[in-house]
Parts: sequence; C-alpha cells; structure tokens
Amino acid sequence: MTQRLELAAPAKINLGLEILRRRPDGFHDLNTLFATLDFGDTIVLESQGDRAITCHVLGAELAADDSNLAVRAARALQRQFADAGGLAITIDKRIPMGAGLGGGSSDAAAVLMGAPLVWGIDVGAPLLRGLALALGSDVPFFLMGGVALAGSRGERLERVDIDLPWHVLLVNPGIHVATPAAFASVGRTGERTASDLRAALSAGLADRTTLRAGLVNDFEEAVVAMYPELGHIKRHLYEAGAFFALMSGSGSTMFGLFETREDAERAGTHFARYWTKVAAFGAAHSSASIASSIDRSE
Ligand code: C5P
Repeated sequence: MTQRLELAAPAKINLGLEILRRRPDGFHDLNTLFATLDFGDTIVLESQGDRAITCHVLGAELAADDSNLAVRAARALQRQFADAGGLAITIDKRIPMGAGLGGGSSDAAAVLMGAPLVWGIDVGAPLLRGLALALGSDVPFFLMGGVALAGSRGERLERVDIDLPWHVLLVNPGIHVATPAAFASVGRTGERTASDLRAALSAGLADRTTLRAGLVNDFEEAVVAMYPELGHIKRHLYEAGAFFALMSGSGSTMFGLFETREDAERAGTHFARYWTKVAAFGAAHSSASIASSIDRSE
C-alpha cells in the first residue's frame, strides 16, 4: 500500500533581524521575528520500498542528491528509525533559492513532519526539533510556522499571537547571497542589544510609520553595499507606495508591506525586470490538519 501526502512548504520573511553576538561555536545569536507567507513550494511524499530515497524537483535547477536539504531530512529520520521505509519526494519549487525566504529550510521541515506520517512512525517533538536544527538554523521555525520570535541560532522560538492584515510584495533580482559570507561581511565583533521586536510589530499595527524605527535587518547595510541594486529596489518599494520595506534574512529578497492586495499588485508592476510575488501572511501549521491530508491507496 502506497501512502501519499501533499504538504505546503511556505516561504518566510524576517520582520526585523538583529545579529547580537558571534558565539564561540562560530554561529551568531540572533533576535528575529519570522513570519510564514501563504506562498511557497509544494511537497509530495510517497512511500516506496527498500529505504530508497529519491527526489524529483520541478521548476528549478536543484540537485536531487544529498546536497538537497529535503533529501537530508529524510536520511536523518532513517538514521534514527530502523522501521522507516523509502520515500519518493517531489518538490514543486516556487520559492527562489539563496533568496532569504527559507525555501530549502521549509522543504526540509515539511519532510521532517510528513515522512513519519507516510511511514507510520511516531517521532517525538523534541527529537524532531533536534533533527531540524542539525539541518539548519531556520528549519525549527518551519515546524511551527505562523509568526514567531526567535533567539539563539533561530531555534529558541516563541509563538507571537498576532494577526497581520498586510499584503507583502516580494522582489528578488536573482542575486544569490551566501549566508556565511553575509555574516562575515557584517563582521559583528562586539555585543548588540536586542530590541523588543514584538512591541515594534504591535505598535506598527496601530501606526505603520513606527515600523521603520523598530524593525531593522542587520545584514542589510553590508549586503546592499555588496549589491547596490538591492538599495535601489528598497527605495523603489517606498516610491511605489509601501509603508514599510526591508530585506529578508541575508537577502537578496526585498519585501514591501501594503494595506491592500491591489496596492501590492500595482507596485509589483514597477518591478517588471525582477521576480516578484504578492502574498499574505500565513497561518501556523496544525499537525492535525497535516495528518488528516494523508492519502492511502492500494
Ligand atoms: O544553520 P545554517 O546551515 O543555516 O547556517 C549557515 C551558516 O550561516 C553557518 O555555517 C554560519 O556560518 C552562519 N550562521 C550563523 N549564525 C546563525 C545562523 C547561521 O553564523 N544563527
């Protein structure tokens, strides 16, 4: 009997990202607000025999080998569970890569959540979170989705219960920013004080103009210095009517926030040269809804 499961692997943006300090282990402690969008990749998981793991990627040049985080997520589960089976992974890739939108991390989290259901094995939440962090600093967030405040490398997570009624225009010029290089170019040596991003976001719901003072991305200056085109895009987002614009993650996607979907779409027409996408903020995942979507066929 083949078990088949289709999962959404949403993109994220960072509503503020502060690099607090460099740690002895080489990682950096962060203070960031993650928020998933209602746009992303689609992942189909199907059981197969012999513990074989195969991966088919539609819509992008992405290796289907062990360099692919989704494949590594499946292998990490197999290492832990002797009764894990084989898995055929199909990724419909819509999230641009190396773009600060968490595409690879989201795909990996979808496999971590979905493969145990396909195989009929029970993986406890603490083990799942540990496997997620071993795959990448952003992966634990995608196990929950929604809006969350993150500390440490990104794995100390606290849900933020806030409804964001805004519309997001994503603009990506196809520049691939390597995250380690972005950290290196920021060159954080001393300590930085964490600001209250949750308060800044709440205040922004009442008065959008306060967001510019409250939500910054510490990567932005250094990455914009490397790729000045990103600075032009940010200015252009404001000129096109965004009430707030910022870089997501270590770039290269710039996002603008708008009051209405029509405003975001109209602004998008100013960026015809680039990849653009209008999205809304997405809801947190519910493991119950993931489990109920499993499809059993003989
Ligand atoms: O965890 P992830 O594989 O996404 O990290 C990629 C690289 O980014 C790390 O090797 C490290 O150089 C840098 N990084 C960091 N601090 C973090 C997250 C990532 O220095 N919190």
